[in-house]
Parts: sequence; structure tokens; C-alpha cells
Amino acid sequence: MAFEDLLNEQAICFRIRAGWKLEESEEGSALILKTDDGREVRVLEDASRYRAAVRRLTEGAPLRALWDSIAATGGEWHATAFSRKLHMLCRAGIIEFPLVEDAREQAVIAPQWNSYVPSLARRAPASGRGLDRFACLRRDGRTWLVESPLCGARLLVSDLEALELPLVRRALAAAGFLETAVPEDDTRRDILRQWEFHDLLFHAHHRKGWHHDMSGACFPFVAEIDPLPARRARWPGKRIELSRAPPATGGATLAEVLERRRSKRRYDATRPLSVHDLGVLLDRSARTDSVRTVPATGPFGQSCSYEVASRPYPSAGGSHELEIYPIVAKCDGLKPGIYHYDASHHALVGIPARDADVARIAADAKWASGDEADPQVVLAITARFARATWKYRSIGYANILRNTGALYQTLYLVATDLGLSPCALGAGNSALFARIAGLDPLVEGTVGEFLVGGPERPGAPEASLFAM
Ligand SMILES: Cc1cc2nc3c(=O)[nH]c(=O)nc-3n(C[C@H](O)[C@H](O)[C@H](O)COP(=O)(O)O)c2cc1C
Repeated sequence: MAFEDLLNEQAICFRIRAGWKLEESEEGSALILKTDDGREVRVLEDASRYRAAVRRLTEGAPLRALWDSIAATGGEWHATAFSRKLHMLCRAGIIEFPLVEDAREQAVIAPQWNSYVPSLARRAPASGRGLDRFACLRRDGRTWLVESPLCGARLLVSDLEALELPLVRRALAAAGFLETAVPEDDTRRDILRQWEFHDLLFHAHHRKGWHHDMSGACFPFVAEIDPLPARRARWPGKRIELSRAPPATGGATLAEVLERRRSKRRYDATRPLSVHDLGVLLDRSARTDSVRTVPATGPFGQSCSYEVASRPYPSAGGSHELEIYPIVAKCDGLKPGIYHYDASHHALVGIPARDADVARIAADAKWASGDEADPQVVLAITARFARATWKYRSIGYANILRNTGALYQTLYLVATDLGLSPCALGAGNSALFARIAGLDPLVEGTVGEFLVGGPERPGAPEASLFAM
């Protein structure tokens, strides 16, 4: 549907979204768009010509009513100019569309894609037609919200019964929220079949362009919630000091290490990983070098300070939310068990765990390696989620996974350089780890696992596993 077609649609109203205002400039010559946080943009000159339309836009009115109110006093030229600016505001997500019938607001369409133009299906679809596989219904405050990564808008209702109203069902159908029979020859059919619901929703939400939610380093909780410190609170227990890496002199070049790097899952049982190797690996890859305090400014100018850290691998915004827990099945000089790596002191602290728990994590890791590895040490990588989510909106969790990838590669390269056997794992059991460590998995939970063993068994066959 073209934007101009909305001139013929009485049930779709235009309304400026909460958080935005259209006001006349102080001297009254221009129409200014203002945000609650103090930003301003000049939209149109001759503000007085649009006064009546702006008032109606604040309450919500069909495009025809807005257009007519300007044309009646200022002529068609100004009505067209206003309509063009309105289109621009729609593209920027500043306008929402109440659906109104018999003077009653039944739902609100909140556009998410710049290209989205609201429309209504000709007829209300049959009541048996349910939501599409990618659509979901959720609460946001007191409002119910229907959304889908495949639809250019969200639909908001204040009570669930409104979803059955014919006008609302026409809007749901037109926006693509309802299931349709996808033709056999549709080229997107197989692509969509392979996307899981959660993955597509996450993908669409952590990238810009598919929603108008806050995104990036917005510091939404400044002055409401205290940020977590960069260093995790120490686990109780005795520290086991680890070996430091020797000073970086000579050795293989980065190019050589990159050439040699492979995932290795078959270890030489006569030369297991040693606590010395583990110390050197962790020192090179993951020690905490320094922590400093920096300022943060929230969306409404509130300010505070928070800590960022520096470690050998990169981390979005220096948040360094990742922790490492070596789960030791076989390591020279270290008792089997679960440990936390205290990255600031470069030491391990033992965490009480039963032998059966260690065995279960090792068995899981063996399974994840396609039964090729006989795990010596599994590095369980946890995230202290609020380190990232306190700062970022929409991209906080995505950044945690990216940071995990950065740590994986650093571990791969350092382990390769040391002649050890590294292998990332893609499937780990967060519930199991949370239970064993006694952690609330929403506060700190595993986001990855990494196998490390001693040197590879001489003559070990090429890994059979390239599918993991
Ligand atoms: C994110 C990620 C997850 C992985 N998950 C597994 C896994 O669960 N099991 C496994 O044996 N290998 C896993 N690997 C290793 C890959 O299978 C390996 O990198 C790939 O087969 C290419 O081989 P190469 O690392 O020797 O170059 C993973 C690698 C990455 C980067």
C-alpha cells in the first residue's frame, strides 16, 4: 500500500508517539519536533498553518482529516507539504497508528521498519486462522503486544479480546501476523523453515533497521541500578597460584600459529595437560591487566561512573563480563574438580563439587566432541550478564556471545602456540553448571565451553567431526 492511499482509510489514525512532541518555535515561525530528552529538529516553516492539524495529530486522526484541516485554511500546497513531513516522521518511527471504529480505539499499530505503511485486509480473516509461526504475543507493562521478526510493525492491544475484533484481525492479516499457506515454489519457504523462532527474533532485534527500540550503549539503568564491578566477587576458599607465561620473546610468528591452529580432540594420554600449562594458557589469554573507572550518561542525562577492564582478548565496551571455570578431569598437579579462575590474581579457587558432577560435565563435553575427546580440562565460560545489559540495549546479549567468540579464538591461538590441544564446544548444559556451582543462571550463567588437553596424540587421525 502506498502512503497516499491512507487518505482513503478512515479507520487508521495517525498519532505522534509518546516521547515526541510537535511544537511551535518560541517566535512561532516554525514547527519543531522535540524529544523528551531535549533534542529538537525544525520540521516546517509557517507553523501557524498547521496548528489545528498538529493538535489532531497529538490526539490521533485519519490522514484525510489532517489533510483537510490544513487545506481548508492554508490550501493544498501546505496540506501536501505537511503530508510529506508526516511520511518522513512515519519512516523514522515517530508516528503510530491507532485503529479506530465507532470512535473507539481498538488497537495501535507501532511501525518498526522504515518502509512500513499500515493497511487493512479487505475482509476479516476466518476466526480459525491463528498466528504465524514467527509471531508472538507478550506483555509490555499493561499492554499486550503482537510482534514478529517478519512483520514491519507491532500491534498493541490493552486486552486480549481485542485480537478477535474484525478490524484488528484485518490489520493482523495485512501486516502478516496470521498464518498463510506458503506456496510450494516459494523460494523463501525452505529458508524460513530452517530458521528457529527464537533465533530469528533475536537476530532481528539485535540489529538496527528492524525495530525502533533503544539500541547500543544507552546506559538505560544509570541512577536506578548500580553497575556490577569489573572484578567478580571472590569465591571463598584457598587460592592456588598459577604459573605465569614467560615474557613474549621470539617464538612462532602469528602467521605460523594461525597456519597451525586446528581443533584437536585426541590427546596423548601419556602427556596430559599440566597445571603449569593451564596457568600459562590462562595468563596469556584471559588475565585481567587493569580496571579503571569511566563516566556513564543515561538517556535523560543522568550520570554515574562504572568500571571497565582490560584483558588480552577484546570485549565490547571493555565490559569483560566473562568468567572462566576450569573443570578438571585430568591435569598434572591439579586435583580433579571445579575451579574458578580469579583473573585479577591469576589464581584458581576450588568450588565444592561432587566427583559425579565433574564426571557429568566431562561426559557432556565428550559427547559434544562427537565422542572423540577424552576430556582433560573443560573451560566453562560464564557471563555476568548485567555487566553488559546495564550498559547496552538490544545488543547486550549479542555482544556477550561475540565476546565469547573473541575469547575462543584467543584460547585457540595461545593453546596452539603452546603445543596444547584446543577445541571450542557449541553445546553445553547451563542448567547443570548452575546447579553444581549454585549460581542463579540469570545472574551468571554459562555461555560457552572450551576443551583443552595436553599435546595431540602422535598420528591422531584427522578429526572426523566437521559438523559441530
Ligand atoms: C563456536 C564454535 C563451536 C564449536 N563447537 C564444537 C563442538 O561442539 N564440538 C566439536 O568437536 N567442535 C566444535 N567446534 C570446532 C569446529 O568443529 C572446528 O573449528 C571446525 O570443524 C573446523 O576445524 P578446525 O578448528 O580444526 O579448523 C566449534 C568451533 C566453534 C568456533
